[in-house]
Order: sequence, then structure tokens, then C-alpha cells
Amino acid sequence: MRQFYRKFHMKRDKKQKIAFITGVTGQDGSYLAELLLRKNYEVHGMVRRSSTFNTTRIDHLYKDPHKKGVNLFLHYGDVTDSNTVYKLLGEIRPDEIYNLAAQSHVRVSFDLPEYTVNTVAIGTLRLLEVIRDLKLESRFYQASSSEMFGDAKPPQSEWTPFQPRSPYAAAKVLAHQLVGVYRDAYGIFACGGILFNHESPRRGETFLTRKVTLGVANILAKKQDKLYLGNMDAKRDWGFAPEYVRAMWMMMQKKKADDFVIATGESHSVSEFVELAFGLVGLNWKRFVKIDQKYFRPTEVDFLQGDFSKAKKILGWKPKVKFEELVKIMLNSDLKKVGLSLKIN
Ligand SMILES: NC(=O)c1ccc[n+]([C@@H]2O[C@H](COP(=O)([O-])OP(=O)(O)OC[C@H]3O[C@@H](n4cnc5c(N)ncnc54)[C@H](OP(=O)(O)O)[C@@H]3O)[C@@H](O)[C@H]2O)c1
Repeated sequence: MRQFYRKFHMKRDKKQKIAFITGVTGQDGSYLAELLLRKNYEVHGMVRRSSTFNTTRIDHLYKDPHKKGVNLFLHYGDVTDSNTVYKLLGEIRPDEIYNLAAQSHVRVSFDLPEYTVNTVAIGTLRLLEVIRDLKLESRFYQASSSEMFGDAKPPQSEWTPFQPRSPYAAAKVLAHQLVGVYRDAYGIFACGGILFNHESPRRGETFLTRKVTLGVANILAKKQDKLYLGNMDAKRDWGFAPEYVRAMWMMMQKKKADDFVIATGESHSVSEFVELAFGLVGLNWKRFVKIDQKYFRPTEVDFLQGDFSKAKKILGWKPKVKFEELVKIMLNSDLKKVGLSLKIN
């Protein structure tokens, strides 16, 4: 994929900003690529090699690089492969780097702790080291997470001490702290966006919210008869992913690099989410939901609720989509996906 870029890069409008996104094929990466393309960025996405297609979330953005006016370029790469990261960043020299790549499933991080730490923490270090070594002037965004707060009492803000409860969260803490170290030690413009859960129709199907909305749609379409879930008492602050990627971009446009909590400020339990999703299509969730111990984490995080007042004050960011609307957006998308014409208003 890279040779196309070399050829077309020469014709680039010099004022056009260049962004590099790791994790471009993920939920956030796809929305961020859309946002940056709308803003006329030249966008470079790192795609990991897979034996099955992993670009479905960005297929609608992809254009034949032989054609004129192409602004999206994809490159094979992996955050566990320093050599490729070095070559890509040295060649592209982006104005902005968004590090979204991760083994991002908290429960899975207990099964794959070493791989999770390698992608999440050491992957971040690799990128920061390349910026330092090549003396790039790139701005850097790190996808930090509310999971870092773990057991800390809500509401959690930028000043709340981290108490991670999973390999994923511990790796995100290390990555977040490295961002602070590289910012202070080397003057790199590096931001940590501490994002609380954010969901969308593009959320992976094994993540709780999507599992529920797709499960409800499948049950209604008679393609599934039970939905197996884990901890129904956990409380989360759920927002809408497209609004959260806008916050990432806003952080990167400020004069000074900083860390920001991005959240809705509201928290709801898993059972509230489930009850609402089933209730919206007239089903009683108790008839369909079964608890399976395998979905419980060895150490749970009970209550996350973000205080986004710093982002509101400094970035002028605030969420518009709240809990009920979010559930409706996801449910409507999944009802359509399974072939039902029902639409929830
Ligand atoms: N969504 C949330 O609620 C939330 C909250 C806080 C923080 N975060 C963090 O924000 C980032 C984006 O989240 P998301 O919801 O968009 O996650 P996601 O849908 O799981 O996407 C993760 C992306 O990382 C890529 N990836 C995984 N391992 C990689 C590797 N070794 N090298 C290169 N790329 C790799 C994936 O590629 P494939 O498509 O090939 O799997 C995918 O593109 C993640 O770092 C996540 O931990 C998310």
C-alpha cells in the first residue's frame, strides 16, 4: 500500500494537515478518519494484517489511490512492530498522530495480559520513542481510558488517582503516564484523552452495549433465543463515539498539550441498559437474559462516572447524546441490520 502514497504525496497541498491514526479500523478510528477527511486532512491509517477482512468500518471511505483527490492512505503495520512504526512515521511525518490501537477488551485482557500490555503500553512507548528519535514535530493523542480509575470513588476527574483493576487498565495507566513523562521531559505535544465508555452502531459485537442491542434485534427476529451476560450491577458513563472523537481532535488543536476527561457525567447500570433496550421493543428482559459466570471479570469495576468540567471549560466540549438516545441509535441500527423494518422513535 505504501508505494501509492509516495507517488501522490509529492502533489500534496502544503497547507493540508497530515494525520496518522493507529487503530483506524476500530470504532473510534473509523469515526475519527471520517471527521479528519471532512476537515480536509490527508489521513494515514495503520491497518494490521489479518487473514479476514478487518476494514469494514472504513470501506466506505476508501478510494482507489490511482484516482485524483485521494486523501486516505492505508498502510500495513502493527504497534508491536517497532521497525514498521519507525519507517511509517519517518516517511509520513504527520502533523498529528492519534494512537487508538489496542487490545481494547477489558475481560479479554485477563486472558491475554502480555499481548494487552504489549499493544497498549509498550505500543505507546514505541510511538513516543520514534517521535523523540526522529525529532518529529508531530502532536500526539493517546487513547487513555476511564478504566484507569478502577476502584476510585465517582465522579472521577483528571485529579482522581488511578486504581486499575485489570491488565488492560494497568497498561493504559502506564501508557498515560509515559505520555506525561515525554511531554515534560522532551517537550512533545502529547495529550491523554481519558475517555469514559463511548458506544455506537460500530461498537464491536463482543462489547456489552452492542451485544445487548444486537441480541435484542436477533431475539425479535427469532434468530436467537437467549442473551448471556455477566455483571448486571456495574455502572458506567456511556456516551456516543462520534462526539468523543471530536473531543480528541479539539485537544490536539489547543496551544498547550494536556489531559482531559471526556464523559457525559451520567451513570447507568448494565441492568438499566438491558431493561431499556428490551423495553423499547416491548420485551421483558427477564425472559431472555441469563447470567454466565464466564463474562465476569476476576476483579470488577463497580462505578464509573466522569466529571468533564475541565473539557467543557478549556475545550468548549460537551456531550449532546445521552443514555436513552444512545440506546435508541444502537438498537435502530441493529434492527435494520437483522432485516427488521421496525424503527424506535
Ligand atoms: N470505546 C471505548 O469506550 C473506549 C474508552 C476509553 C478508551 N478506549 C480506547 O480507545 C481506543 C479506540 O477504542 P475503540 O473502541 O475504537 O476500540 P476497537 O474498536 O477495539 O479498535 C481497536 C483498534 O486497534 C487495532 N489494533 C489492535 N491491536 C493492534 C496492533 N497490535 N497493532 C495495530 N493495531 C491494532 C484494531 O485492529 P483490528 O480492527 O484489526 O482489530 C482496531 O483498529 C482503544 O485504544 C481503546 O482502548 C476506548
